[in-house]
Amino acid sequence: MSTALITGASEGIGATYAHRFAARGHDLVLVARNTDKLEGLAAELRAAHAVSVEVITADLTDATHLGLVEKRLRVGGPVDILVNNAGAALMGPFHGNDRNKMEALIRLNITAPTLLASAAVDGMAARGNGAIINIGSVVSLMPAYFPGIYAATKAYILTLSQGLAAEMGPKGVYVQAVLPAATRTAIWAKAGVDVGQIPNVMSVDDLVDAALVGFDRRESVTIPPLADASLWETFEGARAALPSGLGGTPADRYRTPVTT
Ligand SMILES: NC(=O)c1ccc[n+]([C@@H]2O[C@H](COP(=O)([O-])OP(=O)(O)OC[C@H]3O[C@@H](n4cnc5c(N)ncnc54)[C@H](OP(=O)(O)O)[C@@H]3O)[C@@H](O)[C@H]2O)c1
Repeated sequence: MSTALITGASEGIGATYAHRFAARGHDLVLVARNTDKLEGLAAELRAAHAVSVEVITADLTDATHLGLVEKRLRVGGPVDILVNNAGAALMGPFHGNDRNKMEALIRLNITAPTLLASAAVDGMAARGNGAIINIGSVVSLMPAYFPGIYAATKAYILTLSQGLAAEMGPKGVYVQAVLPAATRTAIWAKAGVDVGQIPNVMSVDDLVDAALVGFDRRESVTIPPLADASLWETFEGARAALPSGLGGTPADRYRTPVTT
């Protein structure tokens, strides 16, 4: 029996992962702020799937709470799958945005998944197996489409995931970045957006089921709404080719024109 720790498990994408992993027979550790929702979900999953479910109430923007979840990953019973899902959106442009809201978003969307992955990989590397699922976003690939820092936090998640996959893959740790597009959850209302105004919104069940197909195939990047996979492969191919074009002297186009 293996154990999955899921952040942001009280609703939305995280709660759906909890249902799916419980159905697959995994024990669970559910993390979020809303204890009542977590306990309700835990009771439902224990009854339906005969799995063990722990609940950790934690505000992941709070360093002390985050430290408790890190400690669970480092010294509690082995966690085989970490789902770094908890996250929020922040609307509005960068210029003039609220400093404290930006800092809280960075803590939740960047600091927490980074430190939780760091806490998880020690045990995974020692055991020679494990998996980390990081929930990014397609907006990381189109930053101008989503103003402010949300897209940048998700670009960090994609780069972190790809770097971790390269480093930890040989040690038996599988790392997957999942890039949803608009998905029907409460995240939109919390950010003040009417999801009814957004076209092509995916259901959360479809999103997680597709992401798990990518997980089972051991894909490093899974983009459920992308119909034509060759678009991503072309993008990644160009990125992979770029380092061979780097040199130790400035490119000709940056040389100061010789004036006579
Ligand atoms: N829905 C989309 O369209 C979409 C698209 C691309 C990417 N994503 C990403 O998918 C992930 C999940 O989003 P979702 O759509 O499922 O959103 P959601 O329905 O709003 O759920 C967010 C989850 O994160 C938890 N959470 C929020 N702030 C937290 C905090 N400070 N500390 C601990 N937990 C916290 C919430 O629980 P509590 O309130 O109980 O703490 C909740 O369980 C996020 O990383 C999001 O950026 C979503």
